[in-house]
Amino acid sequence: MLVSAKEMLNKARDGKYAVGQFNINNLEWTKSVLLTAQELQSPVILGVSEGAGKYMCGYKTVVGMVNGMLEELKITVPVALHLDHGSYEGAMKCIEAGFSSVMFDGSHYPIAENIEKTTELVKICNDKGLSIEAEVGSIGGEEDGVVGMGECADPNECKQIADLGVTMLAAGIGNIHGKYPENWAGLSFDTLAAVKEKVGDMPLVLHGGTGIPEEMIKKAISLGVAKINVNTECQLSFADATRKYIEAGKDLEGKGFDPRKLLAPGAEAIKATVKEKMELFGSVGKA
Ligand code: 13P
Repeated sequence: MLVSAKEMLNKARDGKYAVGQFNINNLEWTKSVLLTAQELQSPVILGVSEGAGKYMCGYKTVVGMVNGMLEELKITVPVALHLDHGSYEGAMKCIEAGFSSVMFDGSHYPIAENIEKTTELVKICNDKGLSIEAEVGSIGGEEDGVVGMGECADPNECKQIADLGVTMLAAGIGNIHGKYPENWAGLSFDTLAAVKEKVGDMPLVLHGGTGIPEEMIKKAISLGVAKINVNTECQLSFADATRKYIEAGKDLEGKGFDPRKLLAPGAEAIKATVKEKMELFGSVGKA
């Protein structure tokens, strides 16, 4: 059964580790992430962007697929199904469809509007026992065709949003989605520490987990980050393994064209990436 992310994140915050949110794109992705979480006895959050939701034929399809897998693969570790960077309408649809967690990304609205919309969604999620993530200070990079520059959140605004009763808060600290450019300045730990000081116990979320150096990840966790989002890195591992398979001409040998064979190296590569991240984040054995 899907669970809210609240308990797993509070435990992670107290235990000084982070739970990974791995974005899913299709059946292979979902299966790889769930099997790895189960094998490593780690809690996990499956992230679904609005674009990926559309690609997978809508939120109801996603909920059906994930619930089916939890049962058929006998997954017993805590799993949350979470909307990533949702609009207000998207969040409402996911709540309706059976997601156990949503992110409302109101970071592009003026703070008053972000507060207003977040407040409404917090109430709905609380009533239904779902977890909700809010964002302050937009996270740069490209996601679903939208390109933004990394910003550092205003700690006072973070406190305003945290006080609305969200479960977890994503604060921009110079992180961006996708690969980091050569001249990236790194995470702003001063911002992170200032946000933490204001929001107290609220579990913090680090987006753009792909390509952040290990030491920075560890420092971020020590400063209150309890959830780390990873998307691009699984895509890169999947693409790399698939390219190698094709380049080696394996699809032309025997039944190598069978999708169950063709997509297998990519699926294994996702597992390896997820395992590496869970070990780095410290969530192994914490289910
Ligand atoms: P990356 O694609 O950089 O790993 O970021 C993922 C993310 O933050 C999803 O919200």
